[in-house]
Amino acid sequence: MDQDMLKRQAAEAALQYVEGGVIGVGTGSTVNHFIDFLATVKSRIEGAVSSSEASSERLKQHGIPVLDLNAVGDLALYVDGADESNRELSLIKGGGGALTREKIVAAASERFVCIADESKLVDVLGAFPLPVEVIPMARSLVARHLVKLGGTPVWREGYVTDNGNLILDVQGLQIRAPMQLEQQINDLAGVVTCGIFALRGADVLVLGSERGPLTHQKG
Ligand code: 5RP
Repeated sequence: MDQDMLKRQAAEAALQYVEGGVIGVGTGSTVNHFIDFLATVKSRIEGAVSSSEASSERLKQHGIPVLDLNAVGDLALYVDGADESNRELSLIKGGGGALTREKIVAAASERFVCIADESKLVDVLGAFPLPVEVIPMARSLVARHLVKLGGTPVWREGYVTDNGNLILDVQGLQIRAPMQLEQQINDLAGVVTCGIFALRGADVLVLGSERGPLTHQKG
């Protein structure tokens, strides 16, 4: 099975967690499959809170109402992909640039179900460059701090987030203490948020695999 089929398998398996109400929906190619599956049960849900303009567009194309988080309060379920997950279900996210809104919707949700193909499961986070969303005027300042933290930041040139900010992709990190590093980077002046999701990691990880969907629960 190719990687996209494995993503599709994980997305379909996540449908079992949908019990109705308003669903938090993330961003990316795996989530795009999830949105397509969600459309098959749309009569059972009230709508979705989306983490990006791209996902909102896809949800609307399926006739799924896109709701404002401010109007709906806390959510029972958030489904999103990841660029990497370790075995404690701490994640790197933001390959698609939607990390800040993803972090907001994850924080508002009781249960975070992460869907991915099995290649995303790693022992140590950091082989995937860590996305950091920064306010434009702070780009160089934040980059210098990230170098001091041992990384090599690369400006994602030509890319602007849905919030009007920039992304630095930080290469060369071996993230052995994800919670501490998440806090440390988030505390830098000019950082909106970083793509480590450890303080609020996933509760369930569903991985598409050749043996069928594999589920990991947070310990
Ligand atoms: C977007 C994300 C995505 O969840 C992550 O990049 C995984 O994407 P894909 O499902 O396409 O592999 O964090 O900001």
